[in-house]
Amino acid sequence: QEAQIVVLGSFMTDVVSYVSNLPRMGETLCGHKLAICCGGKGANQAVTAARLGAATAIIGKLGNDSFGKSYLDALKKENILTDFIGLTSEALTGLAQIIVEDSGQNSIVIVPGANNYLTTEDVMNSRDTFTKAKIMLSVLEIPRETVLSGLKLANELGVFTILNAAPAVEDLEKNFYILSDIFCVNETEAEMLIKQPVTNHDEALSAAHRLMEKGCKKHVLITLGKNGALLLSRDDNNSFLEPVFVKAPEVKAIDTTGAGDCFLGALAYFLAYYPDWPLCKTVTNSCRVASLSVQRAGTQTSFPYKHELENDLFV
Ligand code: RIB
Ligand code: NA
Repeated sequence: QEAQIVVLGSFMTDVVSYVSNLPRMGETLCGHKLAICCGGKGANQAVTAARLGAATAIIGKLGNDSFGKSYLDALKKENILTDFIGLTSEALTGLAQIIVEDSGQNSIVIVPGANNYLTTEDVMNSRDTFTKAKIMLSVLEIPRETVLSGLKLANELGVFTILNAAPAVEDLEKNFYILSDIFCVNETEAEMLIKQPVTNHDEALSAAHRLMEKGCKKHVLITLGKNGALLLSRDDNNSFLEPVFVKAPEVKAIDTTGAGDCFLGALAYFLAYYPDWPLCKTVTNSCRVASLSVQRAGTQTSFPYKHELENDLFV
């Protein structure tokens, strides 16, 4: 089956410690649980899309080590097309050290390792997959020039592009905005880019406008955690449409790690398979998928399969 969704992105082995509270500087804490699992924003997004039923390919780099090899096996079990995944001996498979506290909040340190070796050439070698895809999704856990090559290629081939500008960066050159059909960030990532706080609806709205000014042509999407998401769009004449605040279902969060990735993977899935829906419906349903993931422990382990979701999400 030809991939409808191409994820240009990252892999990390997530080493997750569960503690009651995040440690303070210099503190040694005793955690109550450990989990080692597959993560990385790009792969998380691909896994979500695949579990919803999307034919999904991922272009990325793993280390030629035991973590990399077991990651590859895991992706095959998810029915993700792995033909464009390289193994490098230059660096170890990416690693994320994650601490999750009882409140469900987390903090993460990532070492991209092998992800840093994903090149423009790797993107060009997967041109065929791009040609056949509907949606391209990328993240910033791989080299920027590689992301840019992917965005350029997708634009050239008429593939709809979603850029999740995560993790947070201080600045991003104009082309990242211009070449993204949907530019998606969370509050923290928005704050870093526009150098203004994003703590409420008004600030989120002005942040979305600032991101538009930076070059976005179509849609800016700011995810707001338990408060849902803000969608700001322009029509074909470049005029702004009424901004939409999409509410997320009220749920008790156990572990929010990867919820944003789950949201983006679902977004790509709905865009590819329900292209006629108004975007606000696509966003609403993606929030619903993500809200299920926060009620379960872990990252990929918490991402739902289609059969676990309510039927009305798919009509
Ligand atoms: O967004 C969550 C992801 O961020 C984790 O899986 C971790 O690998 C980091 O990349
Ligand atoms: Na979760």
